[in-house]
Amino acid sequence: MQILPNFAVLEGGDGSGTTTQLRLLKRRCVEYGFPLLYDTYEPTGGPIGKLIRAALQGEPRLRAETLARLFAADRHEHLYGPEGIAERCARGALVVSDRYTPSSLAYQGIDCGDELPRLLNASFPAPELLLFFDLAPQAALKRLESRPRREVYEYLDFQIQVRDRYKALIPQYEAWGVRVVSIDAGAPPEEAARQVWSAVKKMPILELFNTPSY
Ligand code: TMP
Repeated sequence: MQILPNFAVLEGGDGSGTTTQLRLLKRRCVEYGFPLLYDTYEPTGGPIGKLIRAALQGEPRLRAETLARLFAADRHEHLYGPEGIAERCARGALVVSDRYTPSSLAYQGIDCGDELPRLLNASFPAPELLLFFDLAPQAALKRLESRPRREVYEYLDFQIQVRDRYKALIPQYEAWGVRVVSIDAGAPPEEAARQVWSAVKKMPILELFNTPSY
């Protein structure tokens, strides 16, 4: 498996706080004078990502296998399109994405079985660092209660399987040479942020920059 240097991803079930933590990480990098963090997310804001978002909200209704292919197509653009992840990492930026291939292996694996998402994602490079936001699905879904609309994957039975699948995926990513760090996503946001920073600051790109330890 090819590892993409300078690339980190945040992963976890719905409501596990990856989006908030990426925002906090970005803020911390700015405070510490590290200007090279490019924060991004999947599904992306591009045309394929927008179609996926609409499907996640129920319209259009797409087959699970179609959605799996759309996630992979969106990812391909995200990686290799202009100003994409690959280009930025090669230029020496630290790229951190809120979700990447592990999301497809965890989520689409439930609906489509393991084979299709594996096949669709086999050629994508693995990140250097994978942060897994671990949180009991009951607690995670509680956090989402105040949102006006529920997406198709936001129900308990599904999220329990998502968490189990992530846990099973961790040794596989480690075997590919990815550094995996579990974050206690149930901790207060400042504590989770500390755990995130302590993992990210060990990436060679940040060690070179000589950022403070906390
Ligand atoms: P989020 O922006 O709240 O994380 O929502 C994205 C949703 O899409 C979330 O339920 C996870 C799901 N997803 C997949 O099922 N497969 C994927 O490959 C990605 C990137 C996200």
